[in-house]
Amino acid sequence: MIQIFDVTKVYGGRQSALVNVSLQVGQGEFVFISGPSGAGKTTLLKLILCEESFTQGQILVDRINLRRLPARRIPDYRLKTGFVFQDFKLIPTRTVFQNVALRLEIEGARPSLIAKKVRYILKRVGLEGSEQAYPPQLSGGEQQRVAIARAVVGDPLIVLADEPTGNLDIDLTRDIIGLLEEINRTGTTIMVATHNQAILQSTSHRIIRLEKGRLVA
Ligand SMILES: Nc1ncnc2c1ncn2[C@@H]1O[C@H](COP(=O)(O)OP(=O)(O)OP(=O)(O)O)[C@@H](O)[C@H]1O
Ligand SMILES: [Mg+2]
Repeated sequence: MIQIFDVTKVYGGRQSALVNVSLQVGQGEFVFISGPSGAGKTTLLKLILCEESFTQGQILVDRINLRRLPARRIPDYRLKTGFVFQDFKLIPTRTVFQNVALRLEIEGARPSLIAKKVRYILKRVGLEGSEQAYPPQLSGGEQQRVAIARAVVGDPLIVLADEPTGNLDIDLTRDIIGLLEEINRTGTTIMVATHNQAILQSTSHRIIRLEKGRLVA
């Protein structure tokens, strides 16, 4: 599903954020990306999402060559993926319900179906009752759960999550990983960047390790 060949990313400066990274993630696979702060985890996810260009190499996602993807087709491409940003990126002027519903609206789903799916997923992340709240009124952990709900609501082909449990306690962390595993069982390919040792030590999924931009394990 995701094929990365010899990818290098340099952000203007001298140092490379990613160096000659090659990696394949199969359809329906669940992988963790680990590594210390600054290792390149977020950068790798951003390249897959077409949020950053890369300096060298090739990336194919669902057989689409990202280097050849014209800018006007990027929004459609992104609808294949659900993304949890490290800093959430919720829309502060839209309610929790509206933030989660947005993607389904873009896809042109019927309002009754949107309401059903959004309510189900908000309940699943423990946010029933917060539908009409605005993101700035929520705690960090609650905002994080809204971001996760938004990423998974449209049954995307791929879910990319950047530290999706960074602000959550151990019980909520387990629950969120459980939700991602549930989604994974329906065939969705999942990549989760984290340095949460509790998650990494207890998982049976593949763990990819980056250090200073290089794939070391
Ligand atoms: N927009 C940017 N401009 C310049 N340098 C950047 C930019 N984004 C990231 N970098 C650099 O690229 C390297 C990798 O950063 P990245 O954010 O991918 O690391 P990370 O593994 O996600 O770290 P963390 O665990 O702290 O989130 C770092 O050295 C960082 O300073
Ligand atoms: Mg990061």
